[in-house]
Amino acid sequence: MTEIDQLLAEQPLVRFEVTLEPEQIRSFQDQGYLEIGRITSDEELAWLGALYDHLFAEHRSGITGGYFDLTRPYDSAGPDRLPQILLPEKAFPQLRETALFHNGRRVAARLLGVDESALEGGGHMIQKPALYGTELPWHQDEAYWDPRFTYDAVGVWMPLDDATLESGCLQFIPGSHRSAVLPHRHLGGDPSVHGLVTDAVDPSRAVAVAVPAGHATVHHCRTLHYSGPNRTDHPRRAYTNEFQAPLVRCETPPERPWIEQTKLGWARRELG
Ligand code: NI
Repeated sequence: MTEIDQLLAEQPLVRFEVTLEPEQIRSFQDQGYLEIGRITSDEELAWLGALYDHLFAEHRSGITGGYFDLTRPYDSAGPDRLPQILLPEKAFPQLRETALFHNGRRVAARLLGVDESALEGGGHMIQKPALYGTELPWHQDEAYWDPRFTYDAVGVWMPLDDATLESGCLQFIPGSHRSAVLPHRHLGGDPSVHGLVTDAVDPSRAVAVAVPAGHATVHHCRTLHYSGPNRTDHPRRAYTNEFQAPLVRCETPPERPWIEQTKLGWARRELG
């Protein structure tokens, strides 16, 4: 039995259900993000951590070209500063049979006001290596997506290690989900770098949300967010599941010239 088969065979059966209070839903609608507390059990967190480490060690993802560093050109050499794995569940559908995924989908359905069965979900693992993990600049997730559609979606972000200001927890601009998709550009002005950044941000308004491992935050696809560099001597691993309500085709698609420049710019379309 290979290591991955062994890991998959050890998947725990977890019953852990997250519920939301009405004031949490109101807070999300007002602020564009929400801390929801614990989203899975210790047992599942340990299993996910072992699987996560294996996938990063093997550079495995669920789609061709779906493992890369966000901060430097695709296929370039160099130390990983912000490596990520797109859509791991396409290779390992067991990742959709977790308390993490089921709770994320349940919470997303409540926050978006749609039935769970209407949501498309897809995962994204991102890591800040110890000491070398760099910042993830200010952006809106929707800036990465196909502009021919409009979206109503949330990202459910769970760190597998305690996320603090020092290790790179998420930071949000409250209320920014009500703005349009702002102009973005590629990091360093280089279209072969996947990462996008917007300059239309006032960082003095940022709210940092430190959360322990196994807790989660949720943000809307238009909420401006950022995470700082990892200054600690341990990795800051995180796993996001994105849940989209049914897409609506735009009559007049907005101009997003930075997307045309991206090799994998529309990878998120696979979520919908
Ligand atoms: Ni993001």
